[in-house]
Amino acid sequence: MSYKEIYQQSIEQPEDFWRDKAQALPWFKFPHTILSKDDNGIDRWFADGEMNTAYMALDHHVENGRADQLALIYDSPVSGQKRQYTYRELRDEVAKAAGMIADQGVSKGDRVIIYMPMIPEAAIAMLACARLGAIHSVVFGGFAANELAVRIDDAEPALIISASCGIEISKIIEYKPLLDEAIELASHDTPKCIILQRPQAAAAMTAGRDLDWNETMVSAEAVDCTPVKAIDPLYILYTSGTTGKPKGVVRDNGGHAVAMNYSMHAVYDINPGEVFWAASDVGWVVGHSYIVYAPLLRGCTTIFYEGKPILTPDAGAFWRVASEYSASALFAAPTAFRAIKKSDPDGEMIKDYDLSALKTIFMAGERLDPPTYEWTVEKTGKPVNDHWWQTETGWAIAGNMLGLEPMTVKPGSATVPAPGYNVKILDDYGTEMGPNGQGYIAVKLPLPPSCMPTIWNNHERFVDDYLERFPGYYVSGDGGYIDDDGYVFVMGRIDDVINIAGHRLSTGEMEEIVADHPAVAECAVFGINDALKGEVPLGMVLIKDGIDIDEETLNNELKAMVRKKIGAIACYNKTLIVTRLPKTRSGKILRRVLRQIAAGEEYTVPSTIDDPASLAELESVIKDHDIN
Ligand code: COA
Ligand code: AMP
Repeated sequence: MSYKEIYQQSIEQPEDFWRDKAQALPWFKFPHTILSKDDNGIDRWFADGEMNTAYMALDHHVENGRADQLALIYDSPVSGQKRQYTYRELRDEVAKAAGMIADQGVSKGDRVIIYMPMIPEAAIAMLACARLGAIHSVVFGGFAANELAVRIDDAEPALIISASCGIEISKIIEYKPLLDEAIELASHDTPKCIILQRPQAAAAMTAGRDLDWNETMVSAEAVDCTPVKAIDPLYILYTSGTTGKPKGVVRDNGGHAVAMNYSMHAVYDINPGEVFWAASDVGWVVGHSYIVYAPLLRGCTTIFYEGKPILTPDAGAFWRVASEYSASALFAAPTAFRAIKKSDPDGEMIKDYDLSALKTIFMAGERLDPPTYEWTVEKTGKPVNDHWWQTETGWAIAGNMLGLEPMTVKPGSATVPAPGYNVKILDDYGTEMGPNGQGYIAVKLPLPPSCMPTIWNNHERFVDDYLERFPGYYVSGDGGYIDDDGYVFVMGRIDDVINIAGHRLSTGEMEEIVADHPAVAECAVFGINDALKGEVPLGMVLIKDGIDIDEETLNNELKAMVRKKIGAIACYNKTLIVTRLPKTRSGKILRRVLRQIAAGEEYTVPSTIDDPASLAELESVIKDHDIN
């Protein structure tokens, strides 16, 4: 069947389509109900199915001929370590870790926060939670104590699992002091903590609260998989929204497993037994979906890489790893390739490695700019596929469906909608637009399996943020268009979310921090283009009357505040002092115009503007500071 026919079937007969895809997995009880509504009126997949994600990802493969196949390869240039696990070894470790976690009183439905760097124990902890039916919530290691505290208070974990440190190139980032501070900041009752001591830094343990991973594992006994309902949550992954409070994206077990397994075939064209490498971090959705769950559900070997695209030790790092383990696919954010390109513009290092096993390079997480696309194709000689998705969906909304019918790539486009996603472009009134019309990218309901059914502890926010604006549609938060051939072009966020080096962050949250500075009367923080990181934040600030502070001092203080509250990954390092901000007559800051002026783009003066002269002033401030 052609892509078009498959896609049509997925939209017109979604239940038949996904029933068929669900059959590829080993359920304890195959679902009778394929698509139904929950008490909130949200579409749910496979509601009465019974299964266990860790069973599907590990035990099933051990029992069906993959026991001695490699499941996970750990390669850590930053610590000089390499380790490998077969499916049997990984299953056994996970079963023991599940026993260790259960010994702390954790059972089905309890939350466990995992705050770890890119070490195999992070995947073991995630899968161990899945084995118990406990809900994990992984927090990216680059987040500061305050961010961790917010997540602790929202998820109310029964246990926290962490490590003594992470390693950023050659910098040791001690996690334990951050964890201790977060527990201090949080109001949720201090849970038990299991800490993996790494040789690079010894964590001071709090007696009666902290347990040593290695010591506890010695006495732990392996436990079996707990059956869960398909709609029981597998994990909560917090992501940035438009306010300071992150959203706990809930992922259910069944729909997720089905979509993960299907996407490995349809989107990535990867077969069981192949090596799949997503060079991201377990703290992001890419790490959840394509470092941990999808490759294992598909019976592949996954690579856990604790390093960077450059400097660990050089710009040949990606090619070395892909070649050493004969990876069939490499998936990373465009930023990573921009960094490689900057460091090795002629791609000389690519020639040092045998990349014959590498079939395709995939990119996502931010817009893939055509120059980066072209450089990667030219220098590697490999097909490069952009694909667009979000934490909310867990897998591609649009991509080149290599396993169905590969299409000609159009640089700048994520290619075509994935089966199950009825992608539409809507105008301000919610009317579907025709080809090439630019508007809100939305997905007509029902969303396919794996997409979030709610926000943890806040269903109202889920409805407000995604469903309310255009009834019958999920609003993605991205803007763009679909061309005459049905190709989807994602042009960028239409809200206060930005992507910095492929990391999703909230400018709204940064704005709240900047506004807290005693000298700041008013401010706007928004994203501006950056040649390496895609986007970085820029703060425009109005100073309170009577306060004398220069731009550099203010910038340094704000930078320190944002690092302390969010983390270094926010990359806040640009502040402009202005005397007025463009506003509507009702007092709303015109952010879109600000963004356009900062980007040096053409803009239309909004009819609602209160003070048109403010725009000319901004243009000259931007020009003076050479922002672009
Ligand atoms: N833990 C602690 N700190 C972290 C961190 C982590 N896991 N990840 C990043 N940081 C810190 C960095 O050390 C840096 O700190 P500094 O300002 O004190 O030097 C800061 O956050 C900014 O990091 P980053 O944005 O990564 O910039 P960089 O200049 O260190 O590295 C790249 C640039 C391109 C090499 C890097 O951004 C990269 O590998 N990007 C790919 C991103 C990616 O794969 N994203 C996955 C989403 S799909
Ligand atoms: P995250 O939830 O961290 O995966 O970030 C999701 C957001 O990243 C999307 O809403 C987009 O704004 C952006 N994004 C992800 N992939 C792409 C892509 N291929 N092209 C353009 N933007 C992308």
